[in-house]
Amino acid sequence: MATVRFLEQDLVVPAKVGQSILEVAQGAHAPEGYACGGVCACSTCHVYIEQGRELLSEASEDEEDILDKAFDVRMTSRLGCQARIERDGEIAVRISRESLDAYYNEHPDERPK
Ligand code: FES
Repeated sequence: MATVRFLEQDLVVPAKVGQSILEVAQGAHAPEGYACGGVCACSTCHVYIEQGRELLSEASEDEEDILDKAFDVRMTSRLGCQARIERDGEIAVRISRESLDAYYNEHPDERPK
């Protein structure tokens, strides 16, 4: 089994091979944005994979192109809707500021006080 830990939300979520990080986030109500609906056309699902990068699908050229336009891109950056779990293990995810802002703009009632 795979597990995904959302570091700043203190959430540890069981996950299955084949799921994207965004799908796992949505199932756990983790605040990850998804303005384009998960079709690799925005960067609001931008996350940092702090552990378990090797358990995920490789980034496609399309994903790299979108990440080029994202904010605060790091070596660990991925688009949550494109990064799919390919192997069991532990994955640790930090949701980017850009993604948190996108999520809370869409879900203002959930914004931490
Ligand atoms: S939700 Fe838009 S690229 Fe992932």
